[in-house]
Amino acid sequence: MEAVNIEDLRQLARKRLPKVLFDFIDGGSYDEVTLRANVADLNRIRFRPKVLVDVSQRSLETTLFGRKLTVPIILAPVCSAGVFARCGEEAAARAAQRCDTTLCLYTASICSIEEIAAQRQTPYMFQLYMGQDRDHARDLVERAQAAGCFALALTVDTVVGVSATRMFATATWSRPGSCHAMSSTRCCM
Ligand SMILES: Cc1cc2nc3c(=O)[nH]c(=O)nc-3n(C[C@H](O)[C@H](O)[C@H](O)COP(=O)(O)O)c2cc1C
Repeated sequence: MEAVNIEDLRQLARKRLPKVLFDFIDGGSYDEVTLRANVADLNRIRFRPKVLVDVSQRSLETTLFGRKLTVPIILAPVCSAGVFARCGEEAAARAAQRCDTTLCLYTASICSIEEIAAQRQTPYMFQLYMGQDRDHARDLVERAQAAGCFALALTVDTVVGVSATRMFATATWSRPGSCHAMSSTRCCM
C-alpha cells in the first residue's frame, strides 16, 4: 500500500506495530479530549488556492532561531521513535536533512545526541525534560551544545505523569508516570 495521506500512514503503522505501540503514538491522554480538539482545530485550516496568479517565484522558506528552513515544518519531539522503528531517530534525522529542515531530538530518545549529530550536516534542536537530577540535565545540555544543537526546547508541562489510557487498557507494561525509555542505557543521549 502506498501512502498518499496521513490516514494511509496511520493504517500502515497500525498494521506494522504491536498494538501497544500503535496505541501509544496514536492515542492521547485520559479521555483524549485534547487530542480530538487538536484534530478538529487542524481540520479547520484550509489551503488557499492561487489560480491565474504567477506562482513561479513562490517560496516556503522561513527562519527559526536564526536558521533558514526550506519549509516551515520541523519534526517535533516524539519520544521513543527508536522504539517504533530500529534507529528511528537516526532515520528521522536523515529525513529532515533531505527535506532541508530540522528536527527536535527529545530527552527520552533511543539514539544518542552524538549519533543524531553524525547523521546530519546541519544542526538540530534538543528538547529537555528537566528532572530533579540537575547534574544529569546539565550533562545533557552540555552534550547537546557540544553536538552543535542550535536551540533548546524546555518542556514544562510534565509536572505530573500523564495517563495514556488507551495504551494502558491493553498493555501489561509499567504504569502511567513511569518513564519507559529513560532507563535504557543508550537513551537520554
Ligand atoms: C507519542 C508522542 C510522544 C511525544 N513525546 C514528546 C517528548 O518526548 N517531548 C516533548 O516535548 N513533546 C512530546 N510530544 C509532544 C509533541 O512534540 C507535540 O508538541 C504535540 O504532539 C502537539 O503536536 P501535534 O498536535 O502535531 O500532535 C509527544 C507527542 C506524542 C503524540
